[in-house]
Amino acid sequence: MKTVVLVFHPDLNTSRVNRALAAGLPAEIEVRDMYQLYPDFKIDVAQEQAVLADADRIVLQFPMYWYSSPALLKQWEDDVLEYGWAYGSKGDALHGKELVIAVSPGADNYDRDKFAKYHVTELLRPFQATSRLIGTKFVKPFITVGASTIGKEQLEQQVQAYATYLTQATLPVLGDFE
Ligand SMILES: Cc1cc2nc3c(=O)[nH]c(=O)nc-3n(C[C@H](O)[C@H](O)[C@H](O)COP(=O)(O)O)c2cc1C
Repeated sequence: MKTVVLVFHPDLNTSRVNRALAAGLPAEIEVRDMYQLYPDFKIDVAQEQAVLADADRIVLQFPMYWYSSPALLKQWEDDVLEYGWAYGSKGDALHGKELVIAVSPGADNYDRDKFAKYHVTELLRPFQATSRLIGTKFVKPFITVGASTIGKEQLEQQVQAYATYLTQATLPVLGDFE
């Protein structure tokens, strides 16, 4: 089981949560700091496709920005998930692999009776729909809510939980409307 974590954080040096989550992963998990690799947004598509082809479990890790992701992740999708490779009648390169979203919303108000209204999983629907298109298994996302104010102890627990989650032999797959 080969796991690769693509971290999309504009500046991991100033990050508290995503840096800690990535740093707590065991050495056998490859972590790629995508903004460091591609500060100019010019993604090496062949290289990134090779990384994905080689992995069984693909993790997209990022802080929630504007109820979505930082911009480089969108660019990565636009460039790397090519027609005829990731989707289309001959595009089966990612079929059967696991896709894990690991997102950290700064706020903790993602519920019907709270300000943000929508559950985080609802806001992740574009990723779930994309997963369906590219034939990956959409694993139950790993969500760190309240990332802007999370306490030291709680962050340490979350770091441990993340490492445990990503090293599990099998992960739960999210239902279409969960
Ligand atoms: C440009 C920008 C947009 C953000 N948008 C959201 C948002 O829509 N919802 C939210 O809960 N937090 C939002 N945040 C807060 C970040 O999600 C939070 O700072 C981050 O998850 C903390 O992780 P880090 O310590 O790794 O940077 C935003 C932060 C920035 C800088």
